[in-house]
Amino acid sequence: MNGNIKLKTLITEKQIKQRVAALSREISAHYSGETLMIVGLLNGSFIFLADLVRQLNQYKLHLIVDFMRIYSYGSNTVTSGKPTLCQDVTIDVKGRHILIVDDILDTGHTIEYVIQYLSAFKPLSLRSCVCLDKTGRRQANVQADYVGFTIPDVFVVGYGLDYDGRFREIPDISILS
Ligand code: XMP
Repeated sequence: MNGNIKLKTLITEKQIKQRVAALSREISAHYSGETLMIVGLLNGSFIFLADLVRQLNQYKLHLIVDFMRIYSYGSNTVTSGKPTLCQDVTIDVKGRHILIVDDILDTGHTIEYVIQYLSAFKPLSLRSCVCLDKTGRRQANVQADYVGFTIPDVFVVGYGLDYDGRFREIPDISILS
């Protein structure tokens, strides 16, 4: 069914669960008692974000959740490096603590673009949280404030990440070859 596509597990569902719990502890400690607006970047962040906000629910902070959609891919596995806004947030970010949530930080162009874009609307603070960080491929001068896992330069799928729209539903994160 998958033709020649092979998946090799890189990070297990159990490891992800433990790391998301730890990340939510870190995030809640920083924003304790505050209202935090989470801005998820579609499509890739949807599963990570869903797990993160449900973990954050147990802590003393108030959440607002919204989404943006950024198009940045030139072909299936190679980023075009030119992010374009496809869908904006629907809630005003002015004067709010904002946490951008994405699946993976790769070249960094997407997060850099979103930071620049949202900064113009004068949020109270602006941080970012990514499930995965491919540090070796960075082109833009950005880093995430919260990182789930640092991974090598491999194309990964699962846990919201896709290849041509596929494999998002897989609970592990796997290397695609
Ligand atoms: P940049 O390069 O702007 O890329 O940091 C961020 C976006 O690129 C996608 N991306 C991937 N998607 N497996 C994927 O399924 C990967 O290994 C991968 N690397 C980058 C992703 O959509 C991310 O938001």
